[in-house]
Amino acid sequence: MTQYKIPVLPGDGIGPEIIAEGRKVIDAAGERFGFDVEWIEYPHGADHYLETGELISEETLKELSRYPAIYLGSIGDPRVAPGILEKGILLTARFYFDQYINLRPIKLLDGVWTPIKDKTSKDIDFVVVRENTEDFYIGIGGRAKKGESKDLLEVRRTLYSAKFGLDIETDSEEIGYQIGLISKEGTRRVIEYAFDLAGKRKKHVSSVDKANVLSDIYGFWREEFNEVSAKYPDITTDFNFVDAITMWFVKNPEWFDVVVTPNMFGDIITDLGAMIQGGLGLAPGGNINPTGTSMFEPIHGSAPKYKGQNKVNPIATIWAGAMLIEQLGEKEASDMIVSAIQKNILDGKVRTYDMGGRSSTSDVGDDIARRIKEE
Ligand code: IPM
Ligand code: MN
Repeated sequence: MTQYKIPVLPGDGIGPEIIAEGRKVIDAAGERFGFDVEWIEYPHGADHYLETGELISEETLKELSRYPAIYLGSIGDPRVAPGILEKGILLTARFYFDQYINLRPIKLLDGVWTPIKDKTSKDIDFVVVRENTEDFYIGIGGRAKKGESKDLLEVRRTLYSAKFGLDIETDSEEIGYQIGLISKEGTRRVIEYAFDLAGKRKKHVSSVDKANVLSDIYGFWREEFNEVSAKYPDITTDFNFVDAITMWFVKNPEWFDVVVTPNMFGDIITDLGAMIQGGLGLAPGGNINPTGTSMFEPIHGSAPKYKGQNKVNPIATIWAGAMLIEQLGEKEASDMIVSAIQKNILDGKVRTYDMGGRSSTSDVGDDIARRIKEE
């Protein structure tokens, strides 16, 4: 029997409840398809941080880097200032493991209600490939008060006075700034991944940028996109400004196959994507490094107000689990999990409140696990 070791970080809020269901379903798939999982639990998250002051250590990250895939619940807690845990654990892991692809399928399952009128599962079935290690997420920025002399402030002051005759130091009490940076290699590799993926799907790649305004950064993105695209003559392409694509997601979702996007725009448009596929409770994601350590999670947050109530929808996490075992090479078992989710939904008897039902988190996990074992 194949034996897998999978590190699991349940995290905060509803994380432990939804991860328990994800594990249950993967274990059921293992029973059916002949593999066994040893789960290695990690405590990282708010409680651990408040008790020990540690977010996640280099040593732990090194240890985790021995595994091909990590299963993550959700990170974030109202007792800790916003950003501390998210940046200190989630983003740290994405960057440390160089998980440059954030793969977010936008797929409406049959029987799921979408707020988009007259669209069905045939119309809403695309994948967002979000760049995951660059752009405005690199974490370089700061605040500067009037009179403070920082290098960047100097540069900015010079540029501003040259361009607009403004003196930022005397005209503003304080400024906040954040740098967005993309590299040729970083852009190219994620765009290539998107084209390779489209080759296995409907052979169309849509690029997202804002090259009309943020031209230094996203004009560069578009150039790279064009260079990569030239190597894939059988794949068609289009360009979308990020504001416009939010409109097309709603109006014509059937146009899309693979959508490749810089990090921050990808963050924004995938919440919209989640909504058109039925809500955050149904949206999985994978942070992927094809040759290193990947990490799978629902795209929703830790929903602290529902913590411990056994109430929220575990499907996003279960689906992320299916993506995880596909990454490990268990394609058949992964497909079976998605099909069991689909059957649970079509049957309609065991649903959480967000889908109009009255069942609990664990009821839904039980139902999906049972279908894998019995059907
Ligand atoms: C996401 C989340 C994260 C992000 C936050 C929690 C850091 O919103 O995975 O989409 O911005 O990437
Ligand atoms: Mn997000």
